[in-house]
Amino acid sequence: MDILVTGGAGYIGSHVVKQLLESSNYTITIIDNLSTGSLKTIQTLEGIKSDENSMKFIKADLSNFAQIEEIFKTNSFQAIIHFAASIIVPESVTNPLKYYLNNTTNTINLINLAIKYGVSKFIFSSTAAVYGNPEEIPVREDSPTCPINPYGMSKLMSENVLKDTARAYKGFKYVILRYFNVAGADIKNRIGQCFPNATHLIKVAAETAVGKRDKLYIFGDDYPTFDGTCIRDYIHVDDLSDAHLMALEYLEDHDSDVFNCGYGYGYSVKQVIETMRKVSGVNFPVEVVGRREGDAACLVANSDKIKTLMGWQPKYNQLELICQTALNWEKKLLSSY
Ligand SMILES: NC(=O)c1ccc[n+]([C@@H]2O[C@H](COP(=O)([O-])OP(=O)(O)OC[C@H]3O[C@@H](n4cnc5c(N)ncnc54)[C@H](O)[C@@H]3O)[C@@H](O)[C@H]2O)c1
Repeated sequence: MDILVTGGAGYIGSHVVKQLLESSNYTITIIDNLSTGSLKTIQTLEGIKSDENSMKFIKADLSNFAQIEEIFKTNSFQAIIHFAASIIVPESVTNPLKYYLNNTTNTINLINLAIKYGVSKFIFSSTAAVYGNPEEIPVREDSPTCPINPYGMSKLMSENVLKDTARAYKGFKYVILRYFNVAGADIKNRIGQCFPNATHLIKVAAETAVGKRDKLYIFGDDYPTFDGTCIRDYIHVDDLSDAHLMALEYLEDHDSDVFNCGYGYGYSVKQVIETMRKVSGVNFPVEVVGRREGDAACLVANSDKIKTLMGWQPKYNQLELICQTALNWEKKLLSSY
């Protein structure tokens, strides 16, 4: 299968490309502008590639519509896996247009090119942020969507464009994967999250444990949760990657659909900190500061649908293991990246 992967030099995209490269018969074209992605990761992926697969990297920005169309003209993609996006919630509040342009406008252009050049499958990286502050926890795919920040709204708008397009063009199908909190690194510690200013809690905790940061900030401990800190459903990046390969298969003989990607249970910020302290053996300092705008108190997935319809089963659903892989990767970044 000939697949276009946008954002394949980034954190989640690179883990999915790794799994595609370890499987058979994929021709992969990665488009990435390297704004947060890493060229070193692309080089590592080259080394992972099996003989049956091929991988090509094109440095390009999705906003360059003419260049992106040239890439469609000179390839015949059967599927698109679209990761490229801007992903920092607080930044989306202060700079919403960046998010609507990169996450919505550029996605609409890709969908348009998919229709124009006959690409039949589209796998879209969406987010639990489309639910906003859900009333029902764990949240189901058919729960109301009500984003509380421009990041979540920019993704929901793209979801709606995909749905309308698939309704109008019968040969075009999508799987929308709504990721909860993605964390950890490649179990073999070959790739991981490289971008230095990451805001994800487990990454930040690992950076603090290895001494890259002086302390870890807790943004609010007055939420209506059992210990006052936000609760999130942390999913290991390799389990999430499995879901993408399964989604490609799924679309062979199923209609378009939306799936939550999470484990179905959550941990508080304080629980994550304690787990990272335990696996690292470092009692790093923590300071409680005010809430950040746009953070929901609790986001946990109901993941029955992906398990039942796709047969997806998590392999790495232990918080200690997730923290350990994140820590291993942070140590590797310190020594050799
Ligand atoms: N990390 C999470 O916990 C999480 C949760 C929910 C959803 N998601 C979604 O998953 C996807 C991947 O996230 P990630 O954590 O790997 O982030 P990331 O920043 O590591 O990866 C995004 C990649 O896209 C590239 N990119 C961004 N804008 C681009 C553009 N205009 N043109 C070309 N390349 C561009 C970046 O260079 C980077 O390599 C995003 O769509 C994000 O919204 C992530």
